[in-house]
Amino acid sequence: MEQGPIPSPHVLIFPAPGQGHVNAILKLAELLSLSGFKITFLNFHHIHERLLLHTDIEARFSKYHGFQFKTIPSFRLEQPRPADAVRKLLEEVEVKSRPIFKRMVIESNPAVNYIIGDGLMGFVYDVALELGIPAIQMHCISACSFWTVFSIPDVVAAHQLPIKGKEDMDRLITRVPGMESFLRCRDLPAGFCQVSDLSDPNLFILTNQIRQSQALIINSFEELEGPILSQIRTRYPKIYTIGPVHEHLKKKLRSIGKQESYSSSTDLFKVDKTCITWLDNQPPQSVLYVSFGSVTIMTREQLMEFWYGLVNSKKKFLWVIRPESVNNLGEILQELQEGEKKRGYIIKWAPQEEVLAHKAIGGFLTHSGWNSTLESIVAGVPMICWPYFGDQQVNSRFVSEVWNLGLDMKDVCDRRVVEKMVNDLMVDRREEFVRSTAKMAELARKSVSEGGSSSCCLNSLIDDMRVMIK
Ligand code: UDX
Repeated sequence: MEQGPIPSPHVLIFPAPGQGHVNAILKLAELLSLSGFKITFLNFHHIHERLLLHTDIEARFSKYHGFQFKTIPSFRLEQPRPADAVRKLLEEVEVKSRPIFKRMVIESNPAVNYIIGDGLMGFVYDVALELGIPAIQMHCISACSFWTVFSIPDVVAAHQLPIKGKEDMDRLITRVPGMESFLRCRDLPAGFCQVSDLSDPNLFILTNQIRQSQALIINSFEELEGPILSQIRTRYPKIYTIGPVHEHLKKKLRSIGKQESYSSSTDLFKVDKTCITWLDNQPPQSVLYVSFGSVTIMTREQLMEFWYGLVNSKKKFLWVIRPESVNNLGEILQELQEGEKKRGYIIKWAPQEEVLAHKAIGGFLTHSGWNSTLESIVAGVPMICWPYFGDQQVNSRFVSEVWNLGLDMKDVCDRRVVEKMVNDLMVDRREEFVRSTAKMAELARKSVSEGGSSSCCLNSLIDDMRVMIK
């Protein structure tokens, strides 16, 4: 008997409500679309509204057969500390989003065959399990951060937490396998795991979202995090390292002659492209790009220390300052603009991938968010790390201590240190860093090329998904 065409499997993908999460997971969604999956991309309502405001996202994805965006009611919680906001948000979504999400999946037409849930929202995986739908968690953080968060219960059981004051911050944490010789208290996720009291409600909040399973997806690559991935494999037999996912998508589109349709733009903020014209007029590798991602908040004093450190370094800089990241920014900027205006260019949000790829960029002062770190690695740009919270503390330790891709300025915000580190990165140790970043950039690009480690992982993820769906 003749068989009709096999219907495309329907995959529901649900990222956590943050710029870093939407960026990475939407790129995986696009890669799966290119492989013939029907995708429903579920966003929190306020996130989707901002995407619609600042990008042409719906038009861009309309070319993919069966791709649809859906939204789920939002929660916005104003909290003084972002880590508290994350905890409150996760508590709220567990109670409020879970039943709505479950109903959406049950009522979905066509039926949902597979679910990819953000590793920051364990309830997505739980609902899939409850409904008997195959599912997997995608973690938008590095393998080293994931493994640190995963190991926190063992760290506590070994009495290596709590932290006993400032003088205890350089003590080694020896219960995260593979990091025994260099992970210090100050390198644990700040706001969550750097606790002075074991009853701190944030301590296990990240760990509690991780689900035990056969497999997981990580936006990283074997050549960067091989030793830590081997450790994770003792608990998760199958790890699909498909990163750097932005470069992966770019390569895939190029391989099918559609490179012009690549767009990094999944911005929740209005992009200011004037900085590209400014960069065009700067000498090669002369500019330090400064950006602390979508969540970081700093005090007026910290901003001033950065400003004077940058100005005193005598290097040019392109600095992204989100208006809500500092109180009374307007007034402060007016004050600053009077002075050393010519050396710096300040904008509210940059086309970051394009900026990092620009020949004028010679370094990146970053908060070490995982997307920014991967984008810098692919572009071969050395980093100065000023981690703010969460996974960023672990990333910055690896950037400086393990990968030798830059310097770690964590827990310090002093104009003299900023000035010195900028000069170390851009002048004194430039050759050393250029060598190591160029090497890692090459490995990153190879990993997503045909036959490369991440490319093979994506193929096997796709094959395994198809087998599970049957
Ligand atoms: C969050 C967490 O804070 C981070 O630690 C985690 O690793 C991922 O989720 P965020 O703080 O925004 O993300 O940082 P990051 O992961 O670096 O993501 C920021 C994204 O915004 C990057 O893809 C970057 O290219 C983009 N960006 C940033 C811009 O497009 N323009 C900018 O001006 C700044």
